Amino acid sequence: MRLFIAINFNEATRARLISLRDELRRKAANGRFSAPENLHLTIVFLGECDAKQATGAMAAMDTVDLEPLVVTIDRVGRFRRDGGDVWWAGVRNDEPLLNLYRDLTDKLTSVGFDLEKRKYSPHITLGREVLTKDPPGEIVPFSETVSVIELMKSEHIRGKLTYTVIHEKVCDMCK
Ligand code: 2AM
Repeated sequence: MRLFIAINFNEATRARLISLRDELRRKAANGRFSAPENLHLTIVFLGECDAKQATGAMAAMDTVDLEPLVVTIDRVGRFRRDGGDVWWAGVRNDEPLLNLYRDLTDKLTSVGFDLEKRKYSPHITLGREVLTKDPPGEIVPFSETVSVIELMKSEHIRGKLTYTVIHEKVCDMCK
């Protein structure tokens, strides 16, 4: 199974992300746009895992020191690609988020994961293969206080990209 650890947002944040996605879609000549229920912030991508690795990932999540953290979305940007760009809502790389990323990757490494060494660039994908000459401009930043991280399974069900939560870690002081 293909797994990643992510933050899923509340309805208010999701609504704002959907309106960014819709603005992008209106302006684009072409693109595949994220389904509302699929809008998320990946903290760590794990890739293809067996059952033992999934159990290890859950154990690693359980040992992470998770405190409520403010996630701020403050821009829209893109990764340039041939044939159409990946457009995303950018998340401010604040110290608490970076600390969570570091703690989680350390714990995952200690249970045996060999993770990608790429620099963490927190983003929420709004669309792929997007062609537009009129990209969205500046946005008014918005924030949510997050207290849960989730282990997600990614699969195609009847041709539709579907994410399912298979484990969650709730902030210790929030229980
Ligand atoms: P993306 O939206 O920028 O593709 C599930 O695929 C999640 O894991 C997505 O948020 C995806 O980010 C992220 N991810 C990170 N590294 C990835 C990789 N090498 N392959 C696929 N998805 C990756």
